[in-house]
Amino acid sequence: MNIIDIIVKKKNKEVLNEEEIKYVVEGFVNGSIKDYQMSALLMAITINGMTDEETISLTKYMLQSGSVLDLSMFNNVVDKHSTGGVGDKTTLIISPIVAVLGCKVAKMSGRGLGITGGTIDKLESIPGFNVNLTKEEFIDELGKVGMVITSQTDTIAFADKKIYALRDVTGTTESIPLIASSIMSKKIASGSKNLVLDIKVGEGALIKNIEDARHLANLMIKIGKSNNMKVICLLTNMDVPLGNNIGNSVEVLEAINILYYGIDNYLTRLCIELASYMVSLGLNIDYMMAKQKVIEVIKNKTAYNKLLEFIAYQKGEINKLPKSSKMYEIKSNEEGYLINISSLEVAKLSSLLGASRQTKEDTIDYSAGIIINKNLNDKINIGDTIMTLYTNKNTIPNIDINKLFTIGSTPNSSFTLIYEIIKD
Ligand code: URA
Repeated sequence: MNIIDIIVKKKNKEVLNEEEIKYVVEGFVNGSIKDYQMSALLMAITINGMTDEETISLTKYMLQSGSVLDLSMFNNVVDKHSTGGVGDKTTLIISPIVAVLGCKVAKMSGRGLGITGGTIDKLESIPGFNVNLTKEEFIDELGKVGMVITSQTDTIAFADKKIYALRDVTGTTESIPLIASSIMSKKIASGSKNLVLDIKVGEGALIKNIEDARHLANLMIKIGKSNNMKVICLLTNMDVPLGNNIGNSVEVLEAINILYYGIDNYLTRLCIELASYMVSLGLNIDYMMAKQKVIEVIKNKTAYNKLLEFIAYQKGEINKLPKSSKMYEIKSNEEGYLINISSLEVAKLSSLLGASRQTKEDTIDYSAGIIINKNLNDKINIGDTIMTLYTNKNTIPNIDINKLFTIGSTPNSSFTLIYEIIKD
């Protein structure tokens, strides 16, 4: 077998067989297939696609390239994954809800890169928080606390780590079979048999339209099925940021506030939906019954207490969350209703304030970020503070407020939070 023949085959829109896919993944991992050859193949896949069978094989060999966690000693293990969004702190809100209801939430999460944030960065903004658990610590905490979040180890789906690093710098991140195999190889390796996927759609997301999101959802359900994993996909809006806070420590704070005050907003509503599907899978109960239980543990604050227990168990000191040295209030120069908040522009601004990395080597300022002081469809007056910026930098970037916020004369009645729910 020869890598050049395989590249040419994909370039000519032909289907690769399982042996060829095995050869590619193993060869890339052991170094016999070079970065430039793999880049050419990834581009051919991005342009010409893969059949579902090819993607299932790719996932299989990516999964086999690393270690697989065995969590079969627990019943009710559930996992959740988001394809990445702006202000997405749902993991921090949902995991304690689901854990307090008797499911085991075992999560291996990643760091953010570019405009999307990562759960591990958010948790690391809590002084002392340990994101590098051993396998034994991970399993021990899952048993004792019911939830655990650690950084993805290098040994899980090792091929994905190498392939993702190339995709990131070769314009091949948006390929649906490559996204599906990347996410599913890691999720299957993480040991859960139940998965709720939040597929973000919109300008602030990897997936820009519903058709692609639907394709990705069906593919991931099929990959799950062939690996004995139940998968439910929610296709959700990422045109506007999720919640009011964007950054790291400010997002942790927002998650705590949501569980303490039970605030009713789009973020809470999405968390209730995602948590209800997780609980229905984990406890094998009806969705409506699961939803009632979810609402109850937010109301009675047991989910809030679970979040604090989890943070303390991983040695985080929540009362020492960092605060930035500078704060700037940005005022509205228009009057009307807030009909759109650009998630892309908000993410870019947050990044410029220091909240995320442009390259893997960058350090981030955990206290930097944005709090949007208004909600969608709020009435805005000239001079109202529309957002507050937090940074340790001495200057702030030039801000074109009209690019970030759209103010109209009537409220936007067409906003949809959840587009579709797709399950087997
Ligand atoms: N998240 C992943 O882990 N992989 C992708 O390809 C996209 C999002």
